[in-house]
Amino acid sequence: MIRTARYDQVAEFYVDEVGDRLDDAGTAGLLGLVGDVEGRRVLDAACGQGRVSRELARRSAVVTGIDLSAELVQRAAAVEGKQRLGIDYRVADVSAPDVLAGSVFDGVTCNFGLSDIDDLDGVLRTVRRVLRPGGFLVLSLLHPCFPGWRDIASSAWPPGEGYFQEGWWRTEVRSSRIRRAVGANHRTLSTYLNALVGNGLPVQTAAEPPPPADWLTAGPGTDPVPTFLVLRCRAEG
Ligand SMILES: C[S@@+](CC[C@H](N)C(=O)[O-])C[C@H]1O[C@@H](n2cnc3c(N)ncnc32)[C@H](O)[C@@H]1O
Repeated sequence: MIRTARYDQVAEFYVDEVGDRLDDAGTAGLLGLVGDVEGRRVLDAACGQGRVSRELARRSAVVTGIDLSAELVQRAAAVEGKQRLGIDYRVADVSAPDVLAGSVFDGVTCNFGLSDIDDLDGVLRTVRRVLRPGGFLVLSLLHPCFPGWRDIASSAWPPGEGYFQEGWWRTEVRSSRIRRAVGANHRTLSTYLNALVGNGLPVQTAAEPPPPADWLTAGPGTDPVPTFLVLRCRAEG
């Protein structure tokens, strides 16, 4: 199946908006659960413009980055051309049955990638296939239970339909400019956990980084809510 690279249309904006930042709570949480990767072969799945790939390489991992968006990978490769870290970037659908055939990795990262990937079982099958037994998958997500935050951030599920309605949708919240353009796949927490277990990738460690401090000081009625979800899973075998 040929998949549409939705990020091609927002590549310039995505790079301007996100750039090389690693200090947002989800990304920092993911890098915290990745830990020491010196000398490890790591696949950065849905690597985008390569911000996490570069950090893994700076931690002395041997990194392959894969993404569906040729526009984003081109930008990642352009940075690699200027500051060589030895990262192997590829444009491909990480959920395709034959992708990365013959490759073996010690770990896989997926930073804010799963809700953009339409075929959840497909990508998890790939992760399981390319990981050595005992290898890790560390992923971050907008928390599937995130109810939205005022006019600052869109909820995880389509308003009016509710948490249990799964599927791809596009927000209308003006400040969520990326999600307004590319949409997202909403899945419940149990769908994610069951898919991980079902594909031989049970969760070892979970973290729920809280919302940014400036959200909490934005006004009354600001009880912290589930905002990000970070999981470390171990490949059975
Ligand atoms: C929110 S971006 C995250 C990019 C990067 N990991 C980061 O932290 O900035 C989601 C990425 O998933 C990629 N993506 C969506 N479906 C994909 C697929 N089937 N295979 C590979 N990448 C995919 C998009 O092209 C996009 O770059």
